[in-house]
Amino acid sequence: MPFNFIQMSDPQFGMYASVSSYSEEEVEERRQRGILMRKASEPIIGFADETRLYTRAIDKANSLKPDFVVVCGDMIHHTGDDAEIAELFRITDMLDESIPIHWVSGNHDVGESPTSESIALYRQKFGADNYSFDHADCHFTVINSSVASDPSNVPNEWDRIVQFLGDDLAAARRAGAQHLVLLVHHPLFNERADEGEGYFTIPPERRDVIMGILRDNEASAVFAGHMHRNNYANDGKLLMITTGAVGYPLGSDPSGVRLVTVDESAITHRYYPLAEPPM
Ligand SMILES: [Fe+2]
Repeated sequence: MPFNFIQMSDPQFGMYASVSSYSEEEVEERRQRGILMRKASEPIIGFADETRLYTRAIDKANSLKPDFVVVCGDMIHHTGDDAEIAELFRITDMLDESIPIHWVSGNHDVGESPTSESIALYRQKFGADNYSFDHADCHFTVINSSVASDPSNVPNEWDRIVQFLGDDLAAARRAGAQHLVLLVHHPLFNERADEGEGYFTIPPERRDVIMGILRDNEASAVFAGHMHRNNYANDGKLLMITTGAVGYPLGSDPSGVRLVTVDESAITHRYYPLAEPPM
């Protein structure tokens, strides 16, 4: 310590084309809910926008030289789409080979209501969806928050996550980790841990279970994505940091990545927009 890592989220290959097919009414209906989509001037085919933005995100990582990169979900838009995954991995290969990359599953990667089949396909393509790793006396835990969002098809997966999270954080605490950090796709909450149901957040019933484990083990921070805009909140000393998209923005924050600095006393962070290069 100290060390840096980069958090990215939602490169979401395929989203620009998908959104470009929305009607004026569909765009307006989402804007009413605070989801700031823009009517495309013409239909988009392919994923040139995602390629440009994710390439810039990887370039940014190569220049900032973090200890590792984490991508907090929605790597692709259409669950299991081979072309989207191939393009994601083609660009990921440009990341300096000394920088490890960790994947977190998002709702577009495993489906809004994950099934054992969609989770199995994800594991085949990206590896485990629930796992942890250590770096410089800090412990990072990744869970499949789409299961926490809707476990109806896979109740056993939710039970496994609760068991895993409790055991994993307690073991890291016993081992003397300086910081415990949770990496997820869905934010746990927007403003307060006791707020009601929200469009983007984990429902209170299961949020409370996760929060209980985080509080019991004095976790330092949760990093999430999914909202395609930045949002910052806390629960006592626990930071709840939601990071805007590498891909299509749904708020006023531009596409970007977050550089996080960890030292013994604090976790600090800064959002780097993926600005257009000078003409
Ligand atoms: Fe998402």
